[in-house]
Amino acid sequence: MIVYVNGQWLDDSSATVSFQDRAFVFADAVYEVVHIYNGSYFKLDLHLDRMQKGLDKLRIQSQVNDLIPVFNELLNRNPEVKRGSLYVQISRGEAPRAHGLPKLKEPTVVVYVRPLTPDPRIWEQGGRATFVEDLRWQMCNIKTTGLLLNCMAKEEALERGCDDAIFHRGEIVTEASASNLFIVKKGTLVTHPTGPWILPGITRHVVIELAKTLGIPVKEEQFTKDDLLSADELFLTGTMSEVSPYVEVDGNKIGTGEVGPVTKRIQEAFRKETG
Ligand code: PDD
Repeated sequence: MIVYVNGQWLDDSSATVSFQDRAFVFADAVYEVVHIYNGSYFKLDLHLDRMQKGLDKLRIQSQVNDLIPVFNELLNRNPEVKRGSLYVQISRGEAPRAHGLPKLKEPTVVVYVRPLTPDPRIWEQGGRATFVEDLRWQMCNIKTTGLLLNCMAKEEALERGCDDAIFHRGEIVTEASASNLFIVKKGTLVTHPTGPWILPGITRHVVIELAKTLGIPVKEEQFTKDDLLSADELFLTGTMSEVSPYVEVDGNKIGTGEVGPVTKRIQEAFRKETG
């Protein structure tokens, strides 16, 4: 596959970055994953807005909109990718290891697309999740590549025979390992408010807008593990998970233990939106 690394188009087998890259040494980088439906990027503008905010917050000098021609060219060069994902990562760049932020003018840019064959199991039958204490930092709203605790939570879930981990800080439920989380209580969607404890997901945003048009009330407020366990329905949202129902958490059935009617309405509306 042809990938883009620092201004060059390369075969993925020959694409490399420096061992001194700040992403490698300090996870000093932000990234985005964008879904490709029917050969087009879904909500690319919202992903790029979020990425630019992350770059600015971390004082990485890069304008992500400059990469739009690269994103388009990637689709031209990889025409077999009709359904897939774009990965873009921008790090501060290459410098000898030192904790202070070097004033680098050349960020390291890696962009590629890859095809995806969706597995509908969770969308259709619902997944199983397990609670994992959220030990991540207080800037989860920035999409940095520092995802080790997300990876460890996912692994913990897999080892427990589950599909995903649901993070909680004390009693408060935040999000999942790579998705946001909604519960349905008496017909109302409830999701953790944006802020330092969750990533402000693009899919979360799309789902809130869809719910509004469907006349489904949405509350963005904190809720507890007990609230989740006594909810009528539970679903996760994310670029790759889309709208994923979850029907069991730590062996407890959520609602009836089957994919619920509100989740199905949201899934259907989301599918129409993505085409
Ligand atoms: N993850 N929360 C976390 C921790 C995430 O990593 C993601 C996305 C989301 C959902 O955000 P969005 O709807 O914008 O994809 C929430 C991506 C897909 C990943 O790391 O692969």
